Amino acid sequence: MALDRIRLASLHDKVMSAEQAATFIEDGMTVGMSGFTRAGEAKAVSLALIKQAKANPLKITLITGASLGNDLDKQFTEVGLLARRLPFQVDNTLRRAINNGEVMFVDQHLSETVEQMRNQQLKRPEVAVIEAIAITEDGGIIPTTSVGNSASLALFADKIIVEINTSLDPAFEGLHDIFIPGQRPTRQPIPLTQIDERIGTTAIQVDPARIVGIVFNDTDDSPSTVTAPDDETQGIANHLIAFFEKEVAAKRLPANLGPLQAGIGSIANAVLTGLKDSNFENLVMYSEVLQDCTFELIDAGKMTFASGSSITLSKEYGDKVFGNIEAYKDKLVLRPQEISNHPELVRRLGIIGINTALEFDIYGNVNSTHVCGSKMMNGIGGSGDFARNANLAIFVTKAIAKGGDISSIVPMVSHVDHSEHDVDILVTEQGLADLRGLAPRERARAIIDNCAHPLYRNALNDYFDRSCAKGGHTPHLLREALSWHANFEETGNMLVEKKISQPA
Ligand code: COA
Repeated sequence: MALDRIRLASLHDKVMSAEQAATFIEDGMTVGMSGFTRAGEAKAVSLALIKQAKANPLKITLITGASLGNDLDKQFTEVGLLARRLPFQVDNTLRRAINNGEVMFVDQHLSETVEQMRNQQLKRPEVAVIEAIAITEDGGIIPTTSVGNSASLALFADKIIVEINTSLDPAFEGLHDIFIPGQRPTRQPIPLTQIDERIGTTAIQVDPARIVGIVFNDTDDSPSTVTAPDDETQGIANHLIAFFEKEVAAKRLPANLGPLQAGIGSIANAVLTGLKDSNFENLVMYSEVLQDCTFELIDAGKMTFASGSSITLSKEYGDKVFGNIEAYKDKLVLRPQEISNHPELVRRLGIIGINTALEFDIYGNVNSTHVCGSKMMNGIGGSGDFARNANLAIFVTKAIAKGGDISSIVPMVSHVDHSEHDVDILVTEQGLADLRGLAPRERARAIIDNCAHPLYRNALNDYFDRSCAKGGHTPHLLREALSWHANFEETGNMLVEKKISQPA
């Protein structure tokens, strides 16, 4: 057992089995756990808790940074452990339970959870379970591959369980920058003016008396599955890079574009990979999740610094980066998610936010979360933290889904996550709509002409023309506005009137 990872000797007698530690978690409790985008979740106590729940059913509210790896959300759901879950998830089994009304899911802006906890709008956890590299001489907890909400969950919990992951190199120490904003309304500005500044501490400073258990694990994070660019995602990347080149030429963006934020997934991956072969140099990121493509850009000498809240990598890149973290440390920092996503900082730093939409409408409202307005997909994540405050708020999606049965551009979105007021640029493989400075009727023209798939363009034009004939600043035909979604639910295709969908 690696007792040297617990540098405060008075804590050595807190070492216990995961099963013992899990007994601190009781029915009805609110539990905070580390973990953000499958990085740095508490692995051993979670499995022990699942065993415990199988023997003696219990229900908890579970708050994490974002999604968990190692299928934990799936297993938690299967044993009926989750009464309430926030603020984000990506698991199929949990998604089903949420959509069946069995788990109450609170879909939150990722920067807001601990802010609401700070002033007691959200219940604070009785227990926090935090994965760590080590515990320092004064009881500070050094996080692992994510910071997420770990710092504030530990600070606000009555009891803390630390889970030390011995499979990770102790050289992770120094990678993190833990800064906790003060109480409102007397809070001072967050003193971060450059993305590579460090403004906090390298460990989460807690009162060691609240650490009630220490457990060891040696389990890796789940590797991410990177999807290689396909024709559509490559097309989206090409449109965006051409747009960036024009913006730099017009001096509306600096030569290195300024700090980039990119959501996870295949499109973000294609865009960032595309930047590797572009003429841009000295790129920087101020994002949530650092993925393979971040490290590809760093390795290619194209990116000089990346700030995030977690590192989520494929097996290949995990071995390369985590096995050699010392070599990357001067180019990286991991921050609490309320700092990586903080509206004050996103606005100040001039971030380009690139996130994925499920669908958007002809006026530029974006739905990132709810299929046909009702069924939760994953959650809003950090997309709203960035979009509302970004220098450029960009949303990307393929123009059609499900083999063409769904148009991602619809007359009216069936759920709004990002209103037209927050959205600057929309991109599909068909083209890019620049909405800056446009009124609703102009936006509709730009979106239909540039982004819609040819299968649906005539139908969108038909809807728009008839809406305009009726009048209004943002013209709509209310009885038809959501008929495409209703058609899909009833017939499996958005356009019952197939005639109108054929290109002229
Ligand atoms: N209606 C219904 N389903 C749709 C759809 C639409 N308009 N558009 C896409 N889909 C389906 C796809 O068919 C696919 O289904 P499958 O899993 O059964 O194959 C699924 O949604 C995912 O789509 P995909 O094109 O593979 O994109 P993705 O994996 O990049 O996910 C989001 C897209 C929107 C679900 C995802 O980016 C997300 O959850 N975003 C919100 C959170 C966020 O932005 N996080 C980053 C912030 S930092």
